[in-house]
Amino acid sequence: MPTMGALHKAHLELIRVAREHAEKDGEVAVSIFVNPLQFEPGSDYELYPRSEKADEDFCRDAGVDLLFRPSVEETYFDDRSTFVEETSLSSVLEGKSRPGHFRGVCTVVAKLFNILAPDVAVFGEKDFQQLAIIRRMVRDLNFKVDIVGVATVREDDGLASSSRNQYLSGEERQQATVLRQALLKGAKMRRGGETSSTRIVSAVRETIGQAVLARTDYVDLVDAENLQPIEVVRPNTLLALAVFFGKTRLIDNILLP
Ligand code: PAJ
Repeated sequence: MPTMGALHKAHLELIRVAREHAEKDGEVAVSIFVNPLQFEPGSDYELYPRSEKADEDFCRDAGVDLLFRPSVEETYFDDRSTFVEETSLSSVLEGKSRPGHFRGVCTVVAKLFNILAPDVAVFGEKDFQQLAIIRRMVRDLNFKVDIVGVATVREDDGLASSSRNQYLSGEERQQATVLRQALLKGAKMRRGGETSSTRIVSAVRETIGQAVLARTDYVDLVDAENLQPIEVVRPNTLLALAVFFGKTRLIDNILLP
């Protein structure tokens, strides 16, 4: 189970699922690596929360068998010149807002797969696009690993658990619940028979706009398989959004009913 550390209750849930798949004879490995390659220039690489001792205790308490925590120096050669790049699913949503991000993710995940040779790897649906891209990479490049997706873990008020939530001020944290409300609003419209992407997106944007501290980066409806934008809602449509609160960028998504 690959992570960037600052472990929280969502990571614990992924560890639980990994354990389930490992059954009694298998082992659960967690990697912690804040991957410089997936942070675009000017983003929060330096500031990304690091809590080594707490993470170590967390893994021990969670019954993790192996904690893999390499340094940047031993992970990347200075003259590295090989990268893994997925070129279709990566062009939308997060990929559009964060150029180079998924190239960094794919490259490090491919390295981790080669180093640890897992039979199964566990990823969260909160990062729906990341999960889809990893599945595509594994399919296209014949990695011998089964990818397992885990439903988004949320705080009591609906906010998706995230290492980045700790950047939020008290007021931002309160207002951040609007993300989940906006997604539920979209789902409710769909349930009521709405099929227009434009109308759903504008209602979702309006809901987010009720939080004065929120600044929407994108709200998009895409096909959940190929992540291409859609005009008319059909089965397997994903509503995905990214919203800034101050400098903190939060993402969330929902599969429309
Ligand atoms: P990180 O943000 O630490 O997340 C590690 C794993 O936990 C990812 O699979 C992510 O989708 C999952 N996760 C995080 N919050 C979640 C939530 N609220 N519910 C369900 N799953 C959640 O994602 C990364 O690290 C990196 O990009 C990584 C894959 C490790 C590559 O560097």
